[in-house]
Amino acid sequence: MTPKILITGVSGFLGWNLLGHLGNRFPLAGTFARHRPPLEGVTAVRLDLRDPAAPGEIFRRLNPGAVIHCAAVTSPAACLADPGMAREVNVDGTGRIAREARGIGARLIYVSTDRVFDGKKGNYREDDPAEPLGPYGRSKLAGEELAQRLCPGTLVLRLPLMYGPPSPFSGSFIEFMREGFLGRQPLNLFTDQYRTPLYVEDAALGIELALELPQLSGIYHLGGPERVNRAEFGYRMAEIFGYDPGAINPVRMADQPHYPPTPPDASLDSGLFFRATGFRGRGVNEGLTALKNRLV
Ligand SMILES: NC(=O)c1ccc[n+]([C@@H]2O[C@H](COP(=O)([O-])OP(=O)(O)OC[C@H]3O[C@@H](n4cnc5c(N)ncnc54)[C@H](OP(=O)(O)O)[C@@H]3O)[C@@H](O)[C@H]2O)c1
Repeated sequence: MTPKILITGVSGFLGWNLLGHLGNRFPLAGTFARHRPPLEGVTAVRLDLRDPAAPGEIFRRLNPGAVIHCAAVTSPAACLADPGMAREVNVDGTGRIAREARGIGARLIYVSTDRVFDGKKGNYREDDPAEPLGPYGRSKLAGEELAQRLCPGTLVLRLPLMYGPPSPFSGSFIEFMREGFLGRQPLNLFTDQYRTPLYVEDAALGIELALELPQLSGIYHLGGPERVNRAEFGYRMAEIFGYDPGAINPVRMADQPHYPPTPPDASLDSGLFFRATGFRGRGVNEGLTALKNRLV
């Protein structure tokens, strides 16, 4: 029988999309913290990663064969405002998950981020030194290290900026862009901030492939195939969604002295993952077209 997969953070953007993608293929269970997701046929349990006892009880009850650890404090601004909380959830909480996974012999996939890099170089490979700029990236990097130490064989997947349909509670930067195109807020987009954006369905496809390759462990980058800046992404979105590109105000991050420290070029080289799995995510135009078709 296919082992049960536990996804932490199913009320969030990635966890929700992952659940939708894997739903027909694996028996699933999911955790949420503040927002109980509307789910049928999936066990959903409340888990606060700050509670030292909570994961143990859940793991014993559900006995998953694999755990995809998505839950985290994901807002760099929230982590900057409260680095202690970022550490408690993203590092200590990850340690608790890793310990429990090892205890029951479950495989652990830890979802990390391109923000472990300072963004001075770009096109990062897995063996490039990670030097995060702020508490969010630092906490995710420390989570990577702890997960691998406490649960040998952990697969760390570093994901880039993602876009896709929102969960009932949490979305991607697409919502911010739409509000801007609809004239409800200024649409200042950086011309000097580069990423390799990934359509969230491709993150889910990549994670599904990783689940099917139990020998895959260590760190892998799972970015999109195209390196684009924020303004370029906005122009592509305008074209595909039929918005007025004139709504975009192209600005330079370098000209914003008070903007919080953000990697200027956190683009990922995902060749290692591609060679291991044969999987490459779709480009920006294809991803945006798929998203538009999902949203109508
Ligand atoms: N979104 C991106 O572009 C992106 C890029 C790179 C990497 N990532 C990584 O992908 C993962 C998922 O990101 P996301 O965008 O889906 O985040 P998100 O939408 O902010 O969702 C975060 C999830 O974590 C849960 N959570 C928050 N605090 C918690 C706590 N104290 N205890 C237990 N659960 C808690 C939330 O539960 P409630 O909502 O119920 O409180 C929610 O389910 C994260 O590990 C993030 O670092 C995301």
